[in-house]
Amino acid sequence: MSAIYKIIDKKKLDIVKKPISKAHGLPNECYTSKDYTLIEREKIFENKWTVIGVASSLPNIGDVKPFNLLGLPLFLVRNKKDQIKVFHNVCSHRGVKLVNKKGNIRNVIRCPYHSWSYTSDGKLIATPHIGGMNQHSSPKFKKNKNNLKEIRSCVWLDLIFINISNNEIPFEKYIKPLSDRWAKFWKKKDRKLINHANDFGYFKINAKCNWKFAIENYCESYHLPWVHPGLNSYSKIEDHYHIQGLPNRFAGQGTVVYNPKFKGKKKFPCFPNWPKEKENIAEYVALFPNVMLGIHKDHFYAYWLEPISHKKTLEHMEIYYVGEKAAKSLEFKSLRNQNHKLWENIQKEDVGIIQRMQLGRNSHAYNGGNFSPDMDNPTHQFHKWVATHIV
Ligand code: FES
Ligand SMILES: [Fe+2]
Repeated sequence: MSAIYKIIDKKKLDIVKKPISKAHGLPNECYTSKDYTLIEREKIFENKWTVIGVASSLPNIGDVKPFNLLGLPLFLVRNKKDQIKVFHNVCSHRGVKLVNKKGNIRNVIRCPYHSWSYTSDGKLIATPHIGGMNQHSSPKFKKNKNNLKEIRSCVWLDLIFINISNNEIPFEKYIKPLSDRWAKFWKKKDRKLINHANDFGYFKINAKCNWKFAIENYCESYHLPWVHPGLNSYSKIEDHYHIQGLPNRFAGQGTVVYNPKFKGKKKFPCFPNWPKEKENIAEYVALFPNVMLGIHKDHFYAYWLEPISHKKTLEHMEIYYVGEKAAKSLEFKSLRNQNHKLWENIQKEDVGIIQRMQLGRNSHAYNGGNFSPDMDNPTHQFHKWVATHIV
């Protein structure tokens, strides 16, 4: 029997998978239980393709960054071949956590305890005095059996995805349904134009709630008139449509009236092959488990979630423009600033409401809730995905 059934009654998860009009949402334990969250770490974050950062945050060869996945220590590095690699963050000798803070390793990753050293590809290359004083190798010890443990990883649209359990299908196949969907907006060569803004290109929000609330809220536009009155004044609830990925690994919504209004006459450059008749379309898709994407004719963003505990989440927003000039030059600085403020305000409005969902989940009178059969379909799709993969 699956370990999850010791925490959650099987019937509660089965009911999530029923047709929307008969289903309830995920049970409270999925948001309030520490034990559940440890199972979620394995079944959701280790077994699936999970985002842990962006490649542009490690711009130089030798840049390293630790990442804590609900207690599991990992680190990211840009190696000498200019590739992003991800490793378990633990020395092969006595188990010290190797990379403690963001920085640059220059030549090697050196353990502070007994100075064993590793290359940026995780190869163990120095073991001082291992065979006794001034004996830096030993016939009884094979260096090449003690390299760092690499984690399967892939960079797509600057996002670093990992699959720790090494059990998922190849990332190219995993992403194909979404990638094919968006081929109508941007050609492969257009995707390469995305540039992370050098200023006003990032913000983070500490949300006092479970990470799943951010995803399920992102999937629907039902809340627009009440949570985002400003946004709703030009992009109304009726201007949105549902997006439900097949197979079930992404869901969200799109708008048909995207038309940014910034001060001044200046406009951001657009993706060169974005079709004219689709220029007012923008799509907002949550790719399960933990990243929310937004594509528009003139910018792209990735809003990824770092779960801290069952009731804390660090939300990271990364904003990209079309070409280096739009992303980095002074000429577009004011526009970048305005766009950044726009998204930050919208996400803060969302965080305000999802934090209250966390509080509501402490009610034992709540059975996971009931969905609107017409408005909540993408959100139900995410709940079904979790209920299926947590087992
Ligand atoms: S624990 Fe790392 S060198 Fe000893
Ligand atoms: Fe929202």
